[in-house]
Amino acid sequence: METPPVDDSNPALRTLIAQRVAASPGGRLNFAQFMDLALYHPELGYYATHPGRIGGWGDYITAAHLGSDFGELLAVQAAQLWRHLGKPEGFDFVEMGAGQGLFAADFLRHAHANLPDFAAALDYRIVERSAAQLAEQRRVLAGLPVRWCDLEQIAPDSVAGCFFANELVDALPVHQFVVHRGELLEIYVALEGERDFVEVAAAPSTPRLAAFLDRCGIATAPLGEGYRSEVNLAALDWLEAVARRLARGYVLTVDYGYTARQYYAPQHRSGTLACYHRHRVHDNPYLHIGNQDITAHVNFTALQTHGAAYALRSLGFTRQSFFLLALGLGERLAALGAPGAIENNAQLNAALRRREALRTLVDPGSMGDFGVLIQGKNTDPDLPLAGLSLPAQTLS
Ligand SMILES: C[S@@+](CC[C@H](N)C(=O)[O-])C[C@H]1O[C@@H](n2cnc3c(N)ncnc32)[C@H](O)[C@@H]1O
Repeated sequence: METPPVDDSNPALRTLIAQRVAASPGGRLNFAQFMDLALYHPELGYYATHPGRIGGWGDYITAAHLGSDFGELLAVQAAQLWRHLGKPEGFDFVEMGAGQGLFAADFLRHAHANLPDFAAALDYRIVERSAAQLAEQRRVLAGLPVRWCDLEQIAPDSVAGCFFANELVDALPVHQFVVHRGELLEIYVALEGERDFVEVAAAPSTPRLAAFLDRCGIATAPLGEGYRSEVNLAALDWLEAVARRLARGYVLTVDYGYTARQYYAPQHRSGTLACYHRHRVHDNPYLHIGNQDITAHVNFTALQTHGAAYALRSLGFTRQSFFLLALGLGERLAALGAPGAIENNAQLNAALRRREALRTLVDPGSMGDFGVLIQGKNTDPDLPLAGLSLPAQTLS
């Protein structure tokens, strides 16, 4: 029998959330409010307390931790978007949720070294919610042409360029629902004793949950008794905020996720919520509070449908494997074995490590299965996009 895990919660955060639960109407918070405090409380939240949460020594890695290729290939795609907009003198690239700033560093170095005309037009901005991550970004990006701002500081219809988010949307707080007697109920977090959390199911805190599922074409009753899953309303609010600020250009979203039909398929009857603690995945958000990441898969159909209401037209959806291969990852892999590339053990070891990193980026059983959605506002939908040139998938 497996020994029960030792709880590694931050005691101060556990107490603070318990106090918030006790003080809230009905003595409960909805799950999205709980997740927001656990991840983003400004002093005690998971992302607030330690900049090294992501990475080999942290709880999970992202594509930017696998070397500079991801950022470099995205710079190649962004340069094409700049050309599609008619090579404006200023091209805004707004990265949202930049983690440790590794992606920005790889993107900027590659652009300045290899795409000088694009780099001259580039205005790279980062929007970051967590102060600890932001401080780390300033350290990692010292000397590189990048600036930081809040989303609210960006005026409506002012951005000409591209909003970019890698693994942002999966980190936004989600509501959870459960089907009971054919009805939609929401999951709330209440207290048992002074500090232990228990879940209760009750009427939804907002009509937006039912409206969301309705817009995805999902009827509640057929999901069956006890079916439980997530609804990411924060993702819709984020997309709307981004669309309103975009005058002309693109929104490029990379994340793990499903189409709506896959998301609410019978085999996902416990939902997609996952917790990451020291590279171990489990499904208990009430353990390791403040010291583990909590995520949920992204519903790409919802992003596409909601974006359309704010003039964001879906230009294509594909998987990261096809996206990066179309942008030249295969050539990078081939170059590792080119004549003269490996002449000693050190070079051989380096080539093997890089080969493994490139493989992970496109592995269909790993990051290669991530979704890539490109939406455009006031752009020419007939212009081909390099990253979508291999067979793209449809969202339905
Ligand atoms: C899962 S990490 C991904 C980091 C990075 N994009 C990468 O790929 O390594 C999510 C990042 O988004 C930030 N974040 C979460 N919500 C945000 C929001 N509403 N606005 C800006 N940043 C946010 C977190 O603080 C964190 O830096």
